[in-house]
Amino acid sequence: METMNQTSRVKRGGERAPARNNRTLRLYTVDAVIFVLFALVINVPLTGLAIHEWLGIAIAIGLVTHTVQHTNWVVTTTRRMMSATSFQNRVNYLLMVALFIGFVSIIVSGLLISEVALPWLGVTPPGARFMLWIHLASVGWVLWLTAIHIALNWRWIVNTSDRLVFKRFARTGSR
Ligand code: HEM
Ligand code: HEM
Repeated sequence: METMNQTSRVKRGGERAPARNNRTLRLYTVDAVIFVLFALVINVPLTGLAIHEWLGIAIAIGLVTHTVQHTNWVVTTTRRMMSATSFQNRVNYLLMVALFIGFVSIIVSGLLISEVALPWLGVTPPGARFMLWIHLASVGWVLWLTAIHIALNWRWIVNTSDRLVFKRFARTGSR
């Protein structure tokens, strides 16, 4: 009986593990892609304006994907904010809201001052000076918020890198 229980536990665990690994791999891939895009997109002299604009549009798609992957977090935490919860949870939630608003403001203002990507698609944006100011000012504080966001998730990043990248390389290397 004991052996049977153990077998079924292993089997059940074995069935669940790949699904969880796949989700982790998907999260990790999107996180890595948006991180690299962010590092490039804040460095306009490195890429030039045309590539900057296309990468800016790519990171917008990446961030929508990242947020959709965390729909559960958004729904659960928003509900939690309606009832009694800790100060730390509220600060964490406010940080996420500010991060979201910050990226939306950079991307929308970026599209409104676009000189290459949108005209190439046949759309002429208004390009007001005020929008340029919004674009540059939002970058200033979103940079800090992103650094805090990454720092708060640092343990997950280290553990997952260890499991998905370093241990995998170590296994292939030892063959
Ligand atoms: C360059 C920008 C960003 C990077 C590199 C980044 C990276 C990460 C990482 C590494 C994690 C932990 C692993 C995971 O669950 O995926 C995470 C979680 C999360 N991120 Fe981001 N993120 C960025 C922007 C954003 C933005 C703009 C939002 C929008 C609100 C956001 C919302 C979330 C949420 C809701 C979680 C889950 C938090 C939790 O489970 O405690 N992220 N992000
Ligand atoms: C997360 C996304 C983005 C970030 C972090 C970002 C960041 C920046 C930064 C730091 C600059 C200043 C460059 C400098 O003065 O050296 C800049 C300029 C600019 N960005 Fe973005 N950007 C983003 C998305 C976009 C998008 C989507 C577009 C349009 C499709 C765009 C269009 C522009 C334009 C036209 C300029 C030049 C403004 C000027 O000096 O006339 N950006 N951006």
